[in-house]
Amino acid sequence: MNLTNKVAIVTGGGQGIGEGICEILAKNGCTVIVTDLNSNSAKNVANKINSMNYKSISHQLDVTKHEESSLISQKVFDQFGKIDILINNAGIVAAPNWESKQKLTEDDWNLTFQVNLRGLAKVTESVIPFMKNAKYGKIINIASVAGRIGGTFHPPYSSTKAGVINYTQSMSTKLAKFNINVNAICPGHVWTGLAHRTSMNQKISQGEKKSSLRDVFENNIKTWVPLQREQKPQDIGYLAAFLASDFSKNITGQAINIDGGIYMN
Ligand SMILES: NC(=O)c1ccc[n+]([C@@H]2O[C@H](COP(=O)([O-])OP(=O)(O)OC[C@H]3O[C@@H](n4cnc5c(N)ncnc54)[C@H](O)[C@@H]3O)[C@@H](O)[C@H]2O)c1
Repeated sequence: MNLTNKVAIVTGGGQGIGEGICEILAKNGCTVIVTDLNSNSAKNVANKINSMNYKSISHQLDVTKHEESSLISQKVFDQFGKIDILINNAGIVAAPNWESKQKLTEDDWNLTFQVNLRGLAKVTESVIPFMKNAKYGKIINIASVAGRIGGTFHPPYSSTKAGVINYTQSMSTKLAKFNINVNAICPGHVWTGLAHRTSMNQKISQGEKKSSLRDVFENNIKTWVPLQREQKPQDIGYLAAFLASDFSKNITGQAINIDGGIYMN
């Protein structure tokens, strides 16, 4: 994929799937603006990319602080003269420490909505004017296989991810005339901080003491995934790089699963 001279903003890029996406975009020639709630992790990822002789800078960005999104997008435009790609990756299952709870609270619902859906839309709104002026843009939203079909997983999470898929379709329609493509990726099981917390929650709610968190994760894969293997952050990065490239110029409004075959459509 040739992303030379492209400029991308990635939210929640400081670890996990976001970090994998930053790495793959950078290796394909893109200048990557790693943003995260946690400024140190964003800085570490940008430093790692620069140490491999690819291009990256970092900014702290809490996607729930809407004025921060506008400020960062303006800063990126002032420094690089354009914003070609936005990867909306930041996401949570619920408010901090949710994994130790049996029942989610009002705060969990609110924060999950604020990060996964409203925050994602606000970051999107902050880049649209620049993309519209350039008559060029690629917006990629990280949804989830949990947003495809309701199940036992936490409803605030699943329903916001279903919302991300619908938002992707709406925005792709609205922005098509400006040559802006909007697509979503639905990952399955990726071993990240979020997956650790999910395994922990599963263990607690099943009163199960013996298995390690990794055992719980692997057991879920054996139970649910036809290909019987986990997805890596870089797998999500490869599809993000394709959707950010001009090879995918006629693909818009799609949600593409990378889940080893859990959900087929
Ligand atoms: N791990 C999986 O199995 C899986 C599966 C499907 C979808 N996803 C989605 O992939 C995305 C990345 O998840 P992950 O597994 O890498 O999780 P993670 O918890 O490892 O990483 C999430 C990152 O988002 C950042 N973040 C959290 N709140 C933020 C905020 N308000 N503003 C900005 N950044 C914030 C965190 O600091 C962290 O760096 C999420 O949208 C998640 O829902 C993950």
